[in-house]
Amino acid sequence: MSLPTSASAEIGVIGGSGFYSFLDNVTEVEIETPYGPPSDPITLGELGGRRVAFVPRHGRDHRFPPHRIPYRANLWALRSLGVRQVLAPSAVGSLTPEYGPGTLAVPDQLVDRTSARPQTFYDEGAAVHVSFSDPYCPDGRGIALSTARAAEWPPVDGGTLVVIEGPRFSTRAESQWFAGQGWTLVGMTGHPEAVLARELALCYTPLCLVTDLDAGIEEGEGVTMDEVFRVFAENIDRLRPLVADIVAALPRERTCPCANVLDGMKLPITLP
Ligand code: ADE
Repeated sequence: MSLPTSASAEIGVIGGSGFYSFLDNVTEVEIETPYGPPSDPITLGELGGRRVAFVPRHGRDHRFPPHRIPYRANLWALRSLGVRQVLAPSAVGSLTPEYGPGTLAVPDQLVDRTSARPQTFYDEGAAVHVSFSDPYCPDGRGIALSTARAAEWPPVDGGTLVVIEGPRFSTRAESQWFAGQGWTLVGMTGHPEAVLARELALCYTPLCLVTDLDAGIEEGEGVTMDEVFRVFAENIDRLRPLVADIVAALPRERTCPCANVLDGMKLPITLP
């Protein structure tokens, strides 16, 4: 792979195609990884004085459903460009009646209910067990929360995101069970994205936009894809500038534990 020298970035954004327009001076790079190509060519550009790489999670034309997204290739490609901090906006359902559509949440825990997705880079050669007790970057979370408050979009601080395999939505019984466990949000893309970032010693910060009350919470027809897309589109014009402000506020030097999570481990592969 030969990349122009301008092909580098410090911050990655993995999000929907609504984020294309938020970078200045953009170039596009096609990247191959040991896990195949990422969801689409990566857009590199500037924002608030920072170099940013944007990956459209589902592909430009939304061709990858959540269970088919090339999560490993996306994270590997970002790291190979120099990215060390990742912001991950996504649409989620709410398992909490008080968090209605349009709520912004920055969860602090995750439950994996996916069942058929490669979720490690460390498949053979040596066992690597990364710490994942706290799945998200504490510094990234703090900055996301304070930036959202300053932007007068008071966020929900904490909570548990349960990630389902999809692509179908949950039944009412599943949804009530999730809520009964105390889990607060449900989505389809937050895993394995978060753990793959951790395995590459990247900071990962989720920005969850509630698009619907999940089936066990609402009393109507259940969640529909139209509703999810419509509510996300209705909020993208305030999510985009918020992500830009968070990018600008992220630290230039990392002092969080994410950076050192692989220290002292014998890795069976060479990280990019
Ligand atoms: N993404 C947006 N809304 C969702 C829901 N209710 N369940 C799973 N993923 C979602």
